[in-house]
Amino acid sequence: MSKKITAAITAIGGYVPENRLTNADLEKMVDTNDEWIRTRTGISERRILNEPGKATSDLCVPAIMEICKKRGIQPDEIDCVVVGTVTPDMFFPSTANIVCDKIGAKNAWGFDLAAACSGFLYSLTTGAALVESGRYKKVVVVGADKMSAIVDYGDRSTCIIFGDGAGAVLLEPNTEGFGVLDSILKSDGSGRGVLHMKAGGSLRPASYETVANKEHYIYQEGQAVFKFAVKGMADVSAELLERNNLTGNDIAWLVPHQANKRIIDATANRMGLSPEKVMVNIQRFGNTTAGTIPLCLWEWESQLKKGDNLVLAAFGGGFTWGATLVKWGF
Ligand code: UT7
Repeated sequence: MSKKITAAITAIGGYVPENRLTNADLEKMVDTNDEWIRTRTGISERRILNEPGKATSDLCVPAIMEICKKRGIQPDEIDCVVVGTVTPDMFFPSTANIVCDKIGAKNAWGFDLAAACSGFLYSLTTGAALVESGRYKKVVVVGADKMSAIVDYGDRSTCIIFGDGAGAVLLEPNTEGFGVLDSILKSDGSGRGVLHMKAGGSLRPASYETVANKEHYIYQEGQAVFKFAVKGMADVSAELLERNNLTGNDIAWLVPHQANKRIIDATANRMGLSPEKVMVNIQRFGNTTAGTIPLCLWEWESQLKKGDNLVLAAFGGGFTWGATLVKWGF
């Protein structure tokens, strides 16, 4: 009998723009201060893609090229590219289309997946299913967002949180039990009222009025989202452990979405994990939405050991949330 195919992560790439937006910079733009931002969110600075003509696809390209270099493959060997993003270059074509053109992935198909801060987990689970099907051998999953494109830098409650960045992983078939082992993904669209972009979609197409009303920016009721996020991310992570008969002791790393340090701490607490087992880079990159989890993997790659159990967890707009169990395999 043939062995079960799992999707192993065989390479990781990442990219953040050079340009830094510090808390001191924000103090000059809105009525805020470094102490408030650090104690309420854990963030000290974020990276901003401010070069004219550059978009989310330009965050994806270097991350994917790093993967190709590390794995020793050419872009035309990639079968499929899934881009988790809520800041696509354009409504259409998809950012994945544009990325494939820019990197020369001539034999790949691809698509964008919009699940806000859970974008990477939704995309990873989808990409893994393509590999598990036996039909695709090299699937690239990217989490990328140019949040600065939709942030109102006059709104102190949102502009302090977000940054730009992208992380990518290569998924390949494995028959030794490594890779994406389980995923619990959730969705509750009734939460859309507290975190969304009001205009630009078919509900409220762009007009002079929508621009004048600043409806093309992120709208967030922070406290309401915070409450759901703390419970959602912690509950689903605990559910994933239970379903796989694991406890915190079996987990080498928690790889949490970086929205707020307090949400990360609550999730780690609930799973019984000490801080040394939790990847946190929110202080340097802020919340890059779909980029946060793969950017953590990218930064921690040298510390990961074969056989490590990782729990990836996220909560975000939609609401969307989830947790994914990965056994590190290389
Ligand atoms: O990743 C996608 C999902 N998003 C999240 O998970 C974000 C979840 N929410 C949060 O992380 C937090 O709610 C925020 C960081 C957005 C806000 O923190 P908070 O502790 O919930 O603050 P708050 O909105 O309750 O505001 C408390 C006070 C208010 O003043 P008053 O009414 O108490 O006088 C705000 O006006 O802090 C004020 N405030 C600020 N003060 C200084 C809000 N933003 C700022 C600011 N600087 N930047």
